[in-house]
Amino acid sequence: MGFLAIRGSGALNGVRSLHGRVGRACRSDDRVPIGGYPMSNTECRMTAADALVIFGVTGDLAHKMIFPALYAMARHGNLNVPVVGVAAPPWSLEQLREHATDSIVQAGGADDPDALARLLSLLRYVGGDYNDMQTFTALKQALGDARRPAHYLAIPPALFATVIQGLGSAGLGDQARVIVEKPFGRDLASARELNRIALAVFCEDAIFRIDHYLGKEAIMNILYFRFANSFLEPIWNRDCVASVQITLAEEFGVKGRGAFYESAGCLRDVIQNHLFQIVALLAMEPPAYQGYGAVHSEKAKVFQAMRPLHPDDLVRGQYAGYREEPGVAEGSDVETFCALRLFIDSWRWAGVPWYLRSGKCLAATAAEVVVELKPPPQRLFDDSAPLEGRANYLRFRLSPDSAVALAARVKRAGKEFVGDQRELYLSEQQPGEQTPYERLLGDAMAGNGALFTREDAVEAAWTVVDPVLETHGRVLPYDAGTWGPKQADALIAPHGAWHNPVTVRMAK
Ligand code: BG6
Repeated sequence: MGFLAIRGSGALNGVRSLHGRVGRACRSDDRVPIGGYPMSNTECRMTAADALVIFGVTGDLAHKMIFPALYAMARHGNLNVPVVGVAAPPWSLEQLREHATDSIVQAGGADDPDALARLLSLLRYVGGDYNDMQTFTALKQALGDARRPAHYLAIPPALFATVIQGLGSAGLGDQARVIVEKPFGRDLASARELNRIALAVFCEDAIFRIDHYLGKEAIMNILYFRFANSFLEPIWNRDCVASVQITLAEEFGVKGRGAFYESAGCLRDVIQNHLFQIVALLAMEPPAYQGYGAVHSEKAKVFQAMRPLHPDDLVRGQYAGYREEPGVAEGSDVETFCALRLFIDSWRWAGVPWYLRSGKCLAATAAEVVVELKPPPQRLFDDSAPLEGRANYLRFRLSPDSAVALAARVKRAGKEFVGDQRELYLSEQQPGEQTPYERLLGDAMAGNGALFTREDAVEAAWTVVDPVLETHGRVLPYDAGTWGPKQADALIAPHGAWHNPVTVRMAK
């Protein structure tokens, strides 16, 4: 306890001065122990929010994700504050309640009528234009006695600045916090600008940048598995690791989000954030102390050590039929598939290639990491590695189920020295009951920033992809149901082949 108590808030303040920023004065809550999920409010130095404001409450994100998460929070007894929805349509409260009910029913059913009634009773609605200060005045009234609201920006990124500035002008930023959806910026310059705008109204500790991958059980387990065990550390480096590959594959297309995808593409949509977050958890050094600020600092260092991408590191693909999707330009060059080779120029990882791949309309819906270890130095048995491919690897299955498996060769019964490769399952789990959105919303409202991204990390991640956002070859076509363009195989060929996760047929 003494150790935790005497540490200064060096990590955060150091970052600020590095950027030459003078943000709002903040207390640092970064020393909340990592292990305490879910945090109780007494453990957390930032006081719990006393209201939740959802900008964009009539939109898609609120319908698909936020209402089901709020309902789950109500079911688990974790939602007891007013929930004020804000959006442009002049809806009545009754309309909002019907909309919320519909969302919850569509997400799997409102099987707990008391929880649903509790959630509906907490709802308020403010209709108005975000450019009109009257909207913020009306919001202030709707908030009544609430002094520490959490403002959730479930709105298109183009509106973030308007709403943040409106909150600031209305005095609704004091003691408040803001929850910002990804994508946080669309390149380095816009991310910096957004950070500047947000930091003019909120302090860093009060900005909760959502990457829902950080709220997934299997991804939280990477941090736990790495640092709750000692056997990994001696092999977790360039001496023993040959390569790392991460695949996030989806069988479905853009699902009606063509217009959004046209402005994003696979690299911005999932690689710069979801996949990079996985890389950071796999590659980071041990946190220097037991607090999430230490984890944030180590993750930021991974992004800072990543070599900025070169166009040759990248294969961009587009599934046949994408250009016919609503909202997609006729001659669109936006990638729905992306494979890339990445290097982390750090003491631990120098020379180890990291291969990342993601795409829509692929052959499976699954996400996996494979950390391949170097083969034994000599080939003593006729059937052993390297002739038969990988000998040892660690496989993290991230979705739809979660598992950690270690692959090794073992001898078959009999007098011959021949064997098979086996996977030893260290853990196998179905997804937990709590969805990432329920977890992250609850954490943001409690003031626990462990599972959110920090300013310096977001900017460092953009620095890596910035050189290839506009400078790259044209997209290569691929057929739906395949593993993307052949050129992605050529990219990884010097270090083997892609490991294709087992197909799991999902409802489209
Ligand atoms: C979102 C992307 O952030 O993540 C989507 O915008 C993608 O395009 C989704 O499908 C993947 O998340 P999950 O949790 O379904 O793996």
